[in-house]
Amino acid sequence: MGNIGVFNQLATNTNTYLNTARPFSLDFQVYRRTFDDIDRKLGFRSEDRVLDLGGGCGQITKYIAAKVTEVVLADGANNTLAVAQKNLRHHANITYRLIDITVLPLPFLDDYFDHVVCYSVVHYLNNFDEFSRLVAELLRVTKPGGKILIGEIPLSDKSSAYFKERRKRPLLNFLLNVRYYCKKYLTKLFYVLDGVDDAQLKGLTYDRKIISDILNTFSSARFEFLAQDKKLPVANSREDVLIVKNLQKR
Ligand SMILES: C[S@@+](CC[C@H](N)C(=O)[O-])C[C@H]1O[C@@H](n2cnc3c(N)ncnc32)[C@H](O)[C@@H]1O
Repeated sequence: MGNIGVFNQLATNTNTYLNTARPFSLDFQVYRRTFDDIDRKLGFRSEDRVLDLGGGCGQITKYIAAKVTEVVLADGANNTLAVAQKNLRHHANITYRLIDITVLPLPFLDDYFDHVVCYSVVHYLNNFDEFSRLVAELLRVTKPGGKILIGEIPLSDKSSAYFKERRKRPLLNFLLNVRYYCKKYLTKLFYVLDGVDDAQLKGLTYDRKIISDILNTFSSARFEFLAQDKKLPVANSREDVLIVKNLQKR
């Protein structure tokens, strides 16, 4: 079935509530908070044209659309897009595109978008070559001076450092483990009840060196790693990469 099949099941069977890494965060503002964090990094302006790639059911797209002139919500899962289209029907400035990000080129003109958001998506690619090719393609469709935020990337080096520190405080570590397993098994229970076969989800784990080695091959852009707002649910193990396309084409 593959990753896209699982996201189709999630959208059909659970509508929106389980289709991101934020279920049971117990923070009812989690999407607003995520958007605010993205906005701080990209600085959306009212005249911007934005691509939300792998935008899923559109929980973040909704906030982007309220701030800019035009958003393209692209995703590889057709049921997911249908849910987004229904939930966001009052936003006239969003268009919906069924796009598999492993199949390039993307169907957009050169230098078309002011910003690209690709949030909590690239770990569903099959290998690092696909990541590299995707970045090249995102640079093509982004305007000179535009920004690409590849968000919420699972980083093995970041999570190892976090757990190493955490184990130094055994009681806190124990309590956080209890919370983690409660959330994990609650999510699993919902998957089972909703008929979602999450065992089919396959993902890549990155580290900062792998990403830096790849991004350093692009002379047309500069990049930096940016931590997420600490209140976001996976901020201890994931991070964003901000890529800025140079003003001058080389
Ligand atoms: C965890 S959700 C993230 C949704 C949204 N960006 C967010 O952060 O709330 C991952 C999304 O990536 C999409 N996706 C996974 N693999 C894809 C692919 N090869 N092409 C296009 N979309 C893909 C899934 O369909 C899903 O909607």
